[in-house]
Amino acid sequence: MTSPVNYTLTENIGVVTIDSPPVNALSRAVRQGLMEAMDTAAADASEAVLIICNGRTFIAGADITEFGKPLMDPWLPEVVDRIEAMNKPVIAAIHGTALGGGFEIALAAHYRCAVPTGKIGLPEVKLGLLPGAGGTQRTPRLAGVDAALQLMTSGVPIDAAQAMEVGLIDRIVEGDLREGAIKWAKDLAATGAAPRRTSEQEIPPCNAAVFSEYRATLAQRARGQVAPQAIVDCVEAAATLPFADGLELERSKFTELMDGEQSAALRHFFFAEREAAKIEGLPKDTPTRRVESVGVIGGGTMGGGIAMSFANARIPVTLVEISDAALERGLSIIDRNYAGSVKRGKLTEEDAAACRALVKGSTDYASLAEVDLVVEAVFEDPKLKKEIFAKLDGVCKQGAILATNTSYQDVNAIAAATQRPEDVVGLHFFSPAHIMKLLEVVRGNKTADDVLATCMQLAKRIRKVPVVSGVCYGFIGNRMLQPYAQQSQLLLLEGATPEQIDTAMEDWGMAMGPLRVFDLAGLDVGYKARQALSDAEKGEPATYLVPDMLVEADRHGQKSGSGYYTYDEQHRPTPCPEVHEIIRRAAAKLGFERREISDEEIVNRLIGALVNEGRKIIEEGIAQRSGDIDVVYVYGYGFPAWRGGPMFYGDAAAL
Ligand code: 3HC
Ligand code: NAI
Repeated sequence: MTSPVNYTLTENIGVVTIDSPPVNALSRAVRQGLMEAMDTAAADASEAVLIICNGRTFIAGADITEFGKPLMDPWLPEVVDRIEAMNKPVIAAIHGTALGGGFEIALAAHYRCAVPTGKIGLPEVKLGLLPGAGGTQRTPRLAGVDAALQLMTSGVPIDAAQAMEVGLIDRIVEGDLREGAIKWAKDLAATGAAPRRTSEQEIPPCNAAVFSEYRATLAQRARGQVAPQAIVDCVEAAATLPFADGLELERSKFTELMDGEQSAALRHFFFAEREAAKIEGLPKDTPTRRVESVGVIGGGTMGGGIAMSFANARIPVTLVEISDAALERGLSIIDRNYAGSVKRGKLTEEDAAACRALVKGSTDYASLAEVDLVVEAVFEDPKLKKEIFAKLDGVCKQGAILATNTSYQDVNAIAAATQRPEDVVGLHFFSPAHIMKLLEVVRGNKTADDVLATCMQLAKRIRKVPVVSGVCYGFIGNRMLQPYAQQSQLLLLEGATPEQIDTAMEDWGMAMGPLRVFDLAGLDVGYKARQALSDAEKGEPATYLVPDMLVEADRHGQKSGSGYYTYDEQHRPTPCPEVHEIIRRAAAKLGFERREISDEEIVNRLIGALVNEGRKIIEEGIAQRSGDIDVVYVYGYGFPAWRGGPMFYGDAAAL
């Protein structure tokens, strides 16, 4: 087998080229190749050594597929040490993303350069790990403690200019990287530049309080997670101990994390997310349709955010509303959201203006005649949706994709309102649609393969994470929410309080407990929907009596200042004796005997409800695989990624 690492002596420069698609991960073959290349370079006439990659990126990290398996020689830390120990200058030349172990290789090199679009990062924390090949010890030596903690605990990459500012790279190479880097290597050789070993550098002085501050912040921001705290321990060791001792601590903590449940869960999640983008039975080369313009119908809560998602990806949008007044309202919400993005530093003023300029309003469906895709986001009224799809059938050009953002309605029935059901699909965004990453792509019975493939590709373009769902009431996510909600009602009646349930779930890792979620969504919505139903259709009174009584007591949820909690002006919830009394009355009416309920029971019953429904969803073929459900819950419902998603957790905990 040919090695993925090639070594050539180009005049007086030893050039090590890694070529291991797709992302040049540090597989065993790459590690071996690097060791051999260093041995050759150490012994030949080269005066400096360049490490560079072919393909789309510099090394994107350790090979995650090897994690959890027995270690194979050579070990990555050995490779890193070997590079740093070289007796002639080693230069790393970065393009794409130098991530994790890939950036640790660059840190072990003596000099670093990157193209202007290059990025560097230490994303191990996102896999429940810490940089385990010297990254925790070398990064602070170059960038200082603060920048190192920021980079490693967030896991978010920084661009070449920022990396240069903090001292993590030495220069930016415009034009051809290989050419520029070889020229620099020659200059270094010509000036007799010595190997400059990061491990031998002094750490810039820092304020000792920074470590306790980080620990406290991370205890909030990364509640329940062990890796971020371990990173702080290692960086503190870098600042206070000799390099070798710091490295030893890093290695023991890395192994501990690798063997732990959180990293196993996050590694599962990493692959689940990538797997979710694949559709069984749909070949990789399925043709796709061009989407260069989009129509959005309805500029309410969802339509505005959906329009922004496309505009942010520089796809022009025509937003159609029912009247001038409604259109004006919709567009002004978009204006406000863009102003918010600028204020929060998410977009520059120029970028926000450029995106906003791509959204045009109209009250005439004829303006959708030429768009490549329409997303309908009007009221959740099946009759109205069918009318609109019949209208679109008459107006839109052949080949246009017609999508509905419905939360619950039957996509097949909506498709049947057109003469082209193969062009109809569900694109279920989550609120706020310009922020939430999840996109359920709902495959109707007749949805064409190329429509599906286009939607999956488009999702990536607009920076969403797509998951395919079959047609059923509520698709994957909202369908699972129903038994979860019902279980929370039973727990209330059996003896728990809203605050006990929410705190138990939030301490366990959910972004928000169920009752606070219902308050946020508004209790009146479900109440109104139930008024239209017969008693038989409403189901068990135990599943809705408490919220009905709350609404009847004028507690409509957060927007009205009270629901399961009473809210202050900053929307902070306070437990309320009136609510406790309502729950007691409801329990008495339905004959529940109240008892002490443990937090463990709360968590097991609520997560168990999700898992049970998830298993049915897989059995029925609504979801392709259990990992897809995990992706839905993490990206759409605030489920902690470090628990792997409900299905992964349910299997591991034998729920
Ligand atoms: N190991 C193994 N496979 C990897 C990989 C890695 N580090 N990174 C990506 N891949 C695979 C993906 O699974 C995917 O495979 P598939 O096509 O079979 O599904 C393929 O490469 C392409 O990946 P993406 O679809 O994610 O491609 P993108 O272009 O969207 O993104 C990327 C590229 C930014 C490199 C992204 O893949 C990524 O973030 N990768 C993970 C990087 C990472 O976490 N590195 C740190 C690893 S831990 C470590 O290094 C420990 C060390 O400190 C000891
Ligand atoms: P909304 O009530 O905020 O907005 C609906 C908009 O549609 C209104 O601005 C209305 O003027 C407009 N509209 C009504 N009839 C129209 C017509 N014939 N032509 C053009 N515009 C028309 O509703 P929201 O919350 O945005 O929901 C829209 C859809 O998205 C629903 O199907 C809902 O189930 C779904 N959805 C809602 C989510 C949410 O959290 N609100 C989440 C995901 C999906």
